[in-house]
Amino acid sequence: MALISAKSILENARDGHYGVPAININNLEWTKLTLEVAQEKNSPILLAVSEGAVKYMGGFNVVTQMVKALVEDLKITVPVALHLDHGSFEGSKKAIDAGFTSVMFDGSAFPLEENLAKTREIVELAHSKGISVEAEVGSIGGEEDGIVGEGELADPNECRQLAETGIDFLAAGIGNIHGVYPENWLGLNFERLGEVQAAANGLPLVLHGGTGIPADQVLRAIDLGVSKINVNTELQLAFAKGTRSYIEAGKDLAGKGFDPRKLLSEGTEEAKKVVRDKIDMFGSSNKA
Ligand code: 13P
Repeated sequence: MALISAKSILENARDGHYGVPAININNLEWTKLTLEVAQEKNSPILLAVSEGAVKYMGGFNVVTQMVKALVEDLKITVPVALHLDHGSFEGSKKAIDAGFTSVMFDGSAFPLEENLAKTREIVELAHSKGISVEAEVGSIGGEEDGIVGEGELADPNECRQLAETGIDFLAAGIGNIHGVYPENWLGLNFERLGEVQAAANGLPLVLHGGTGIPADQVLRAIDLGVSKINVNTELQLAFAKGTRSYIEAGKDLAGKGFDPRKLLSEGTEEAKKVVRDKIDMFGSSNKA
């Protein structure tokens, strides 16, 4: 199946009261493992790529071609969107040109008026090509590929204005942060999420920082309109754990255990388990 915009994927999720995982990919292994699990679970999926990951893989065209080729050769039939995560203004344009089917323009660091103006421009460009757009107000805490946020709560009035730019889904800070949650984390702010939902006028909402959010909070967020949940760090930790245990067990020293296809196999299996768990938790299994 050809890559599609994330609009219908997320509107279906909103209407069906489940969440769709947006899994950050870093290389061929992660792309393949995510697609394989989505197919196995019959779940729609978003492959999210940060600009840092795009650079790491060689460029926007490399990513688009790799994803398209894997979807074709692995005979993936579930809906897949290729989504730019936390894109800059220029990066969003490059992703649109290269064939991404969805972009997040993250103008949250700009003054509101500038964020709104730039978001409108990206919306016009993306929509002329059938590409969906996510935008953000109220930076998400933590650090991801050099993007650092304070973890503030989004202002519902700003959310309303951003929603009115014509975006397809909205990311708003509600106490979520990227990376592992600290011991003293207060949890998601559901009062604010309710206000954001009312302000967003029915748009599907996006929850960043999906790593380690307890299931009860995830489900409550989905109830309040969250349709896309981003997960990155949890796969990285699982992948590292699996790879570490392979090496610590001395498997790379036995026979041809140094072959990267073997060396990366345990990490890949561990990361696959995370994708399976998230699909189960978010309720997107059999929603393809
Ligand atoms: P985590 O790394 O905390 O899972 O967050 C991922 C994310 O929000 C990507 O935008």
